[in-house]
Amino acid sequence: MRFLSCSKSAVLERLLYRSKATNTLGSLHLFNMLTQARTRNAQLDITGHLLYTEEVFVQCIEGPSASISSLWESLQRDERHYDIELLARSPVNERRFKEWSMAFSSYPSLNRFNMEGFFPVKRDGMNEAVERCAALD
Ligand SMILES: Cc1cc2nc3c(=O)[nH]c(=O)nc-3n(C[C@H](O)[C@H](O)[C@H](O)COP(=O)(O)O)c2cc1C
Repeated sequence: MRFLSCSKSAVLERLLYRSKATNTLGSLHLFNMLTQARTRNAQLDITGHLLYTEEVFVQCIEGPSASISSLWESLQRDERHYDIELLARSPVNERRFKEWSMAFSSYPSLNRFNMEGFFPVKRDGMNEAVERCAALD
């Protein structure tokens, strides 16, 4: 695809937002959502991390500027979450999650399907991936 071949030289951006889940989500719903997201992210050359705790999402997406814009528009239309608050968007030199088309952190009980790229949070809702995702530089 022409779009993908252009993306290598495109400006790399990182976007961070927070939102509230419309409904409480279980393991199956999250597994399906992440599976679909990872497929599209691979096509868009997007990597990142999603946190889901206490019905709040915090997501970091990184990739070519045009891909970030496209996904950001989709995310803002998605009725599975609301009160979507943009926390940061800026050009970056490096990816923080280059190994994951979307890493996912949540409570261990929400990983019934043993998905790849799942990082359990500790009691305080944190782990190393969450800290990396939320760090403002
Ligand atoms: C919290 C949350 C995170 C999401 N993360 C992604 C993602 O990383 N990549 C993705 O393609 N879709 C993600 N989605 C789904 C998109 O919002 C959207 O439904 C999907 O990209 C299809 O877009 P379209 O409706 O514009 O075709 C996420 C949805 C929610 C609620």
